[in-house]
Amino acid sequence: MYYHRLGKIPPKRHTQFRQPDGSLYKEEVVSSEGFSGIYSILYHIHPPTRIKAVKEPVKFGPKMIEDYALRQTHLNTSKVATTGEDYLSARKVLLANQDCSLSICSPKQRKMEYFYKNAEGDEVIFVHDGKGTLISPFGKLDIKQGDYVVVPRTVIYKVEFEEGPLRLLIVESASPVETVKRYRNQLGQLLEHSPYCERDIRPPHELISESGKGEFILKIKKQGFLHQYVYDHSPLDLVGWDGFLWPYAFSIHDFEPITGRIHQPPPVHQTFQGRNFVICSFVPRLFDYHPLAIPAPYNHSNIDSDEVLYYAEGNFMSRRGIERGSFTLHPGGLPHGPHPGTVEKSIGAKETHELAVMIDTFRPLHLTTDALEFLDKNYPMSWTDNNANESYNEVNTP
Ligand SMILES: [Fe+2]
Repeated sequence: MYYHRLGKIPPKRHTQFRQPDGSLYKEEVVSSEGFSGIYSILYHIHPPTRIKAVKEPVKFGPKMIEDYALRQTHLNTSKVATTGEDYLSARKVLLANQDCSLSICSPKQRKMEYFYKNAEGDEVIFVHDGKGTLISPFGKLDIKQGDYVVVPRTVIYKVEFEEGPLRLLIVESASPVETVKRYRNQLGQLLEHSPYCERDIRPPHELISESGKGEFILKIKKQGFLHQYVYDHSPLDLVGWDGFLWPYAFSIHDFEPITGRIHQPPPVHQTFQGRNFVICSFVPRLFDYHPLAIPAPYNHSNIDSDEVLYYAEGNFMSRRGIERGSFTLHPGGLPHGPHPGTVEKSIGAKETHELAVMIDTFRPLHLTTDALEFLDKNYPMSWTDNNANESYNEVNTP
């Protein structure tokens, strides 16, 4: 991330910075990895420590399936219109391990009557359908279809969505979500061979400085509960902030694909990194241009990772079973690859219009009980059924 500032801040940190009535603004340092990671300095009208009440915590989190067999898995969520009432109750975690979880979220309510903070994980919200505004003390952030919205842990926020289709894929990470290390120079700037650069990363704009009193509910997610805090002032009470830690949006449509003469491996699609997992973007691109190139991927034995693909847009819609909003999980321990007939069929193809998000984890993922209603029981046999040749057309994605 890069340095950004919004609003009023004093010329020197940790010095007197006074409100019009002569009282001090309340300085808060939000730091990651102790004091070793990125941080920002915030200037509040009210002390961020002052609370009005603490209510009873509410259980919150997925139930894992303990005895799910090793198998290729397809979860088809394409038919889902809504997954719950509001932004938190609508989150359905489908896959999870110690490092990350993957949820779908299509809330009925478009506005939140409370603020939310994830105190134990960074969140990457992929906006498959929808448009709206993420409102946080850092300012307003416009979000739209195709955006990855990255919210570092402890950022208080709420989202307001416009009417219309709304479908979110949420990746929650136990570790900081970062740009890809090999694309950064030693000072953190994104290099020339990176598929995106700082210009593509959209910071919050338009600070909201609410000074009045009232009752404001903050739901804090931590260790299997939503903890409910009540404040007597708005969390949106900043007059300014600066630093490297802030929520941002990056559109998958601004990811510039890396192509080659022969089939390029999945790391060229990498977009973000977390500890023990990566997030990759498969975007419309030209296919390989060696005269004997095979655009379809080879069979792949991913010996120490689980591979999840979320299908957003593209020609997979003609495949039997795989639809817009499908997840496939190809677990480590089993080879996966193109469906019968599709390798020959791919030869000569010039381009793909697919759009997909891939999450590869280096520790096994577990299905949740919420995932079962989306399970396609026939998927493990889809490489064997020759009648499926034309419909299962896994040409492009790995
Ligand atoms: Fe693969």
